[in-house]
Amino acid sequence: MNGSDFFKERGKMQKFIQYTPTEILFGKNTQAEVGKEVKKWGGSRVFIVYGGGSVKKSGLLAQVEEALEKEGLAYEEFGGVKPNPRMAYAQEGVEKAIEFGADFLLAVGGGSSIDTAKAIAHGVANPDWSLEEIWGGEIILTRSTPVGCVLTIAAAGSETSDSAVLTNEETRKKGGISTSLNRPKFAIMNPVLTYTLPKYQIACGIVDIMMHTLERYFIPNTRNQITDEIAEGVLRVVIENGKKGLENPTDYDAMSEIMWAGSLSHNGLTGLGRAKDFSVHKLGHALGAKYDKAHGATLSAVWGSWAEYVYKNDEERFAHYAKKVWGVEEEDVAKAAKEGIRRTVEYFREIHMPTNLKELEIGEVSEEDLRELSMAATLNDTVKLSKIKELTAEDVYQIFR
Ligand code: NZQ
Ligand code: ZN
Repeated sequence: MNGSDFFKERGKMQKFIQYTPTEILFGKNTQAEVGKEVKKWGGSRVFIVYGGGSVKKSGLLAQVEEALEKEGLAYEEFGGVKPNPRMAYAQEGVEKAIEFGADFLLAVGGGSSIDTAKAIAHGVANPDWSLEEIWGGEIILTRSTPVGCVLTIAAAGSETSDSAVLTNEETRKKGGISTSLNRPKFAIMNPVLTYTLPKYQIACGIVDIMMHTLERYFIPNTRNQITDEIAEGVLRVVIENGKKGLENPTDYDAMSEIMWAGSLSHNGLTGLGRAKDFSVHKLGHALGAKYDKAHGATLSAVWGSWAEYVYKNDEERFAHYAKKVWGVEEEDVAKAAKEGIRRTVEYFREIHMPTNLKELEIGEVSEEDLRELSMAATLNDTVKLSKIKELTAEDVYQIFR
């Protein structure tokens, strides 16, 4: 089937279920509401999960604890979560949370802290199962512990998403589980809390937000207008405000747009009525597990090569993207498709994100490493990635090269 036949078959909105129960408290000083929120959602003993210390330094943790105390809530801290959060550390959190008698998990931070809180929540509610077993799919989760979050970085979208991603250091596997039990009860989103972010992290977040939308966009055989327009709008807004936020990280308006876009891009909305792909994420997770690099950077490093490898199977779609997102006016479909890819990669460069493995700064990468990465991304060549063009381990190896 050539590109134009493909296009004629588009327009079928498939069946979908959308469940986004997370209550959003957006705006300045919303963190002061955290005690009331926890209480409202039934928490009385709160296990607070945070990262490497940015929330201590900024004073946010103290504010959160004060708000909990005000409502007479008991709490215990569990800090030290690393980016690309480790399963073993989350398991440690499970034991501590059970010992404390936690009935509520509160993440203060970014995707890594939120995902660790989600994992601990599952572990507490299912004490007979280890996180390794839960992540290995050995049980279908039917219960969890409520989770709330105070977000400090717009990126992963975990504050409203149905997934949680952990790295198993022993097996060097990074992977997620998706379940509606992963949706937090509430998310406190105050853009001011992102003002202390290093520019590199802001840029990683911008890439991740774009990717959560793009991974749902490049799907063959569906072109449902409302979902497309939402996705294209999210992309345009992130691209525009991403630059502004990087120029001035205390630009409230820009950081607000990016923050809300982060949730919209990954709560399901940008892909309703069609399949999703997430193959670029599979490549990124393989890199993240092996080299422990920031998630967004692993995605920008491979997206361009992925797009170049697959776009010919659906030039119409890539041309449409170029037109709607980048304002490309080229009439020739093949040229427009290429131009959209070029502009995207160029944008990553402008925001100082890596656009290949060399720029990801992972040192010398041998042939063996590339093979290992492709096997990790395709679960030893047992799953085919991508919807536009099916990718085997060999294809993924070519993309990494
Ligand atoms: O650890 P601290 O000291 O807090 O510092 C963090 C960390 O170094 C820092 N940071 C966060 N907010 C800050 C700040 N520094 C100063 N001021 C602030 N306001 O930023 C660094 C990155 O934090 P992290 O939580 O790792 O960032 P992100 O939100 O990008 O989360 C990345 C993780 O989420 C996973 C990724 O794979 C990665 O493991 N993802 C989770 C998803 C989900 N649950 O739905 C989907 C995504 O696709 C993604 O896979
Ligand atoms: Zn992501």
